[in-house]
Amino acid sequence: MHRILVYPNQKHHSRPHLQAWEKDYISRGRLWGGAVVDLPAVPEGSLVLELGCGDGKTLVALPGGCRVVALDVSSKALRLARSVRADAAFIQADAGCLPLRDSSFDAVFAFHVASHLLADARRALAAEAARVLKPGGRLFFRDFSDRDMRAGGGVEVEPATFRRGSGIFTHYFTEDEAVALFCGLRLASVGTHCWKMRIKGEDHLRAEVQAAFLKS
Ligand SMILES: C[S@@+](CC[C@H](N)C(=O)[O-])C[C@H]1O[C@@H](n2cnc3c(N)ncnc32)[C@H](O)[C@@H]1O
Repeated sequence: MHRILVYPNQKHHSRPHLQAWEKDYISRGRLWGGAVVDLPAVPEGSLVLELGCGDGKTLVALPGGCRVVALDVSSKALRLARSVRADAAFIQADAGCLPLRDSSFDAVFAFHVASHLLADARRALAAEAARVLKPGGRLFFRDFSDRDMRAGGGVEVEPATFRRGSGIFTHYFTEDEAVALFCGLRLASVGTHCWKMRIKGEDHLRAEVQAAFLKS
């Protein structure tokens, strides 16, 4: 089982919204249920980076033939992720300041992580993801849409970004915004995946922007 590499020189310990993740994983344990659907295919042998891997829901679905680096700010999340995918390398660091070489990855997955950053930090994540991708490498993005049932819940801290009681905030994307965020890469596809969630006998809309980009 791999060690978790920690990059303590990074500033996340001083930022309460990042500490909120650690508290949430410590108090509630595994946070993300269900299975990832329609995971984009990556060729066998690819070197893959997952940003904000959480407790490993996407990580565990990545094909066994890939070499995987999983990164998160929360040490507790990384320990949970390591228990479901021991063959990955684990890094505790901020996705906006990656301790990784330029042009080194075949694919980067950013599923439900950019949404938990403020606008400046989202741009830093996008720039870093583009930097570490090899030419010809692909970035896969998923985050909730501004049509999702949860959009608008909590205190609005920036346009379309809402903080809940735990201190964690979530930004809700439009497709155009997702495309603009990764403007350093070439758009391959974008769309919104919708499904219904039944709560207390009523249907509610879940909506997720999904996009794929290519580095030229
Ligand atoms: C909603 S979870 C996503 C989990 C995972 N990607 C999945 O698909 O199941 C968001 C994760 O992003 C992490 N995170 C938040 N801000 C981050 C940052 N600046 N850098 C790296 N990870 C971050 C949190 O600790 C949390 O584990």
